[in-house]
Amino acid sequence: MSPFPLFARVIICCTGLLAVPAQGDGPVCPQLRGTSAAPAEWRQRENPLPETRGHLRAGKQLYRDGAGGCVACHGRRGDGRGVLAGQYEPPPRNFRCADFLRVASAGQIFWIIRNGSAGTAMAPHRELSDEQIWQLVMYLQQFSK
Ligand code: HEC
Repeated sequence: MSPFPLFARVIICCTGLLAVPAQGDGPVCPQLRGTSAAPAEWRQRENPLPETRGHLRAGKQLYRDGAGGCVACHGRRGDGRGVLAGQYEPPPRNFRCADFLRVASAGQIFWIIRNGSAGTAMAPHRELSDEQIWQLVMYLQQFSK
């Protein structure tokens, strides 16, 4: 005989189910990253823009509504789960992984946005000014802070 009455067993059972994380939901970390390294002089570059609300807001707007369409691949929350994401291998980067900031410096992020990642769906964005790219870099780094 179970020491628990039926209602208690139902509660224990259902709480257990709720505690199981939903499969395939949420960001996958750490993410395999085969992206080429930017040239050393670029990797060491710091963002020349001060971290102000104005620049962050501009970065957010470029990310969400800019012609580069970042959201379609990288997702509104930066988790690499945009509507087009499933089509690509390697998949769009998940900016929410803690390891992203460790491996990708500001200069590295700038360089990939400008030049793209060869052989992947990450296209070069030469239409963006230096200032716009640095604003995007600032905004993207917020996702994993
Ligand atoms: C068509 C889909 C697509 C769009 C649109 C797109 N990306 Fe990407 N992006 C990718 C993929 C795929 C990767 C992974 C590339 C790789 O593994 O090297 C990536 C990687 C990156 C990285 C990671 C660089 C690194 O060194 O790890 C950055 C930063 C980035 N994208 C920024 C952007 C920004 C900013 C925009 C909008 C201006 C954008 N992407 C638009 C698909 C996309």
